[in-house]
Amino acid sequence: MGILSTKSIARLSVLAACGLANASSLPQANSLDAFVEKERAISLQNVLKNTGPNGSRVPGAGAGVIVASPSTVNPNYFYTWSRDAALTMKMIVDEFMLGNKQLEPYIEQYIHSQAVLQTVTNPSGTFLPNGMGLGEPKYNVDLTRFNGAWGRPQRDGPALRAIALITYSNWLISHGQKQKAQTVIWPIISNDLSYVGQYWNSTGFDLWEEVLGSSFFTTQNQFRALVEGNSLAKTLGVKCTGCDQAPQVACFLQESYWNGEYFIANINSQENRTGKDANTMLGSIAIFDVNAKCNDASIQPCNSRALSSFKAFVDAFRDPALYPINKGVPQSKGIALGRYTEDVYFTGNPWYLITAGAAEFLYDAIAQWIRQGSLTIDKTSLSFFQDIYPAAQAKTYTPNGRSPEFPLILKALKDYADSFAAVVEKYTPADGSLAEQFNKTSPFTPVSAVHLTWSYAAFVSMAERRSAQYPPSWVPAQGSAALPKQCASSSTKGVYAPATAAGAPNVTATCTSNVRFEVNATTYFGENLLVAGNTTDLGSWSVGNAWPLDASGYTSQRPLWAATIALTAGETINYAYVRQEDCDQKPIWESATANRTLVIPPCDPNADPNTVVIVTNDAWQGPTGKSGGC
Ligand SMILES: *[C@@H]1O[C@H](CO)[C@@H](O)[C@H](O)[C@H]1NC(C)=O
Ligand SMILES: *[C@@H]1O[C@H](CO)[C@@H](O)[C@H](O)[C@H]1NC(C)=O
Ligand SMILES: *[C@@H]1O[C@H](CO)[C@@H](O)[C@H](O)[C@H]1NC(C)=O
Ligand SMILES: *[C@@H]1O[C@H](CO)[C@@H](O)[C@H](O)[C@H]1NC(C)=O
Ligand SMILES: *[C@@H]1O[C@H](CO)[C@@H](O)[C@H](O)[C@H]1NC(C)=O
Ligand SMILES: *[C@@H]1O[C@H](CO)[C@@H](O)[C@H](O)[C@H]1NC(C)=O
Ligand SMILES: *[C@@H]1O[C@H](CO)[C@@H](O)[C@H](O)[C@H]1NC(C)=O
Ligand SMILES: *[C@@H]1O[C@H](CO)[C@@H](O)[C@H](O)[C@H]1NC(C)=O
Repeated sequence: MGILSTKSIARLSVLAACGLANASSLPQANSLDAFVEKERAISLQNVLKNTGPNGSRVPGAGAGVIVASPSTVNPNYFYTWSRDAALTMKMIVDEFMLGNKQLEPYIEQYIHSQAVLQTVTNPSGTFLPNGMGLGEPKYNVDLTRFNGAWGRPQRDGPALRAIALITYSNWLISHGQKQKAQTVIWPIISNDLSYVGQYWNSTGFDLWEEVLGSSFFTTQNQFRALVEGNSLAKTLGVKCTGCDQAPQVACFLQESYWNGEYFIANINSQENRTGKDANTMLGSIAIFDVNAKCNDASIQPCNSRALSSFKAFVDAFRDPALYPINKGVPQSKGIALGRYTEDVYFTGNPWYLITAGAAEFLYDAIAQWIRQGSLTIDKTSLSFFQDIYPAAQAKTYTPNGRSPEFPLILKALKDYADSFAAVVEKYTPADGSLAEQFNKTSPFTPVSAVHLTWSYAAFVSMAERRSAQYPPSWVPAQGSAALPKQCASSSTKGVYAPATAAGAPNVTATCTSNVRFEVNATTYFGENLLVAGNTTDLGSWSVGNAWPLDASGYTSQRPLWAATIALTAGETINYAYVRQEDCDQKPIWESATANRTLVIPPCDPNADPNTVVIVTNDAWQGPTGKSGGC
């Protein structure tokens, strides 16, 4: 694999730029340098092993399909998520532009796979006429729909995919391939930007797939996508439907999430958390532009509010009762970081991608202050700085004055950033493999999905920033947006068309009719009921891809399980119910004699899309289940 050597670039590091190369504590830095260089190469190779069609860990994955993890049980991550795949592809595009030309086929196959994926009808909806299906968070690795219960829609996927593809399109344009950018790639981007412009002001699930509301990470990436999508459209001489929403998205980002101390990760939601969440830090590193001003509307890493949020988030994990792994680490040093303190998933542990992300966030901010030749501390960011440089004051520091403080503050920041990278080093197994999490409790070993693609992608981008390698700028010279006088709810109706030049099937509007499946089935606590059928809508008889029914109407009088499902109008279906047992026991199907069929009526394009055209009245026919008692 032709991995770009980072050695030569590392010499241009922050310390050298500040004239501080000799003042660093060399032995430690050297060991971290060696680790980062080695792990960067390992990480990129592991990303490719999780990418179809040839990835050795993901047999069966389609061409260009980036699988979240090869893990198929506890947890089963053998799917492709739009978010994880797009963030990973952005890293691949950046590495390609930094010189690794062997990555080109991965980019080309991703483009093709996403053009196809955009048209796949799924539980979030159809592609045509309203783009609803683009909000689907995950698909099977052969690019078919996934019907299981999930937090959907998630509205960051289209924005992140647009960002990755815009970056590549800009590279093509600067390398004499404007025509390809316009005819092949722009149609995919255009659908995604239409989706963003139409739905940014509607709720969806956050990046951790748990909270229905508005998510800072999502809004911030939506804003970036619209701004740079608009610039690309101008270069190509095409119209961007949806990009006109950018100022309102910026207004929402600025005004609605800030609580005076930090950006609350999720708003417009029912959850009851503090809102201190890796969400906001990961958002700022995803929209990082080394040339942007710290007060840019996009909320860059060097933004005072972003720094204050970073401190609030990190400090929440310093509590040794919550995270024994961080016991005894001083306030000025990096620690192991999880998603948010209330997390209970796998009992809530530190994540590799978040701990590496903290280092990346700080490298980003340092690079911005160096680029600007100035660092302004204000009362919002003061306590962030005082943790690592106690003499910090609310004022502007520059390298030119008589005071040596500008380089000293940057040195303290660089050490702080490195201390987060060193935490990743400390808990990475000798073979360099990165799972999703590592245990917050001794012996601090890897937890949850093995070989998590996003962990590897996050490591590579952190390593790029540490080596002073920055992605192309996207913030226009005059700043990313002027805010409207007043924030307002708004939306622009999108224009959607299959990206046929990139390989999408030439689909036409899919007409669906809502069927409400209702079945009486007495079940024990812990048992679930699913409906499966012979069409792709109903998972083609696969239990893993059947639709979960909901027991919220279940009473002692009527053991009702139900779900409303949009099915392709006009088709005839063969369907059956299946019991999903607890304790990993085998599922139980209905007896063959049940053999149910249904003719789905043609749809009425003028009807309310929520109209239910058929309600079944079924009763379970088959053996009952028995609790495994685990
Ligand atoms: C995958 O393998 C096939 C067959 O060896 C090859 O033609 C293709 O270029 C490979 N794809 C990538 C992305 O390496
Ligand atoms: C929609 O935008 C308005 C104005 O910024 C904001 O107050 C509201 O919370 C937003 N709602 C959602 C769901 O994005
Ligand atoms: C939310 O949290 C607060 C403080 O922890 C608690 O007092 C309150 O009962 C919680 N509300 C809900 C709905 O869980
Ligand atoms: C973490 O380690 C503790 C102590 O060894 C163990 O009890 C626990 O099950 C581990 N957590 C996970 C999620 O594996
Ligand atoms: C796609 O189908 C439409 C009609 O449904 C047709 O007008 C258009 O030319 C087709 N496009 C391609 C690329 O085949
Ligand atoms: C499903 O079954 C029905 C009824 O037997 C049949 O008419 C239909 O063609 C089948 N569909 C598929 C995709 O096999
Ligand atoms: C169910 O009925 C359809 C025709 O309606 C038939 O094609 C199919 O084989 C039957 N399935 C079973 C399991 O009997
Ligand atoms: C399901 O239960 C309801 C309420 O008891 C009853 O009215 C209905 O007929 C039952 N359906 C079937 C198919 O048995």
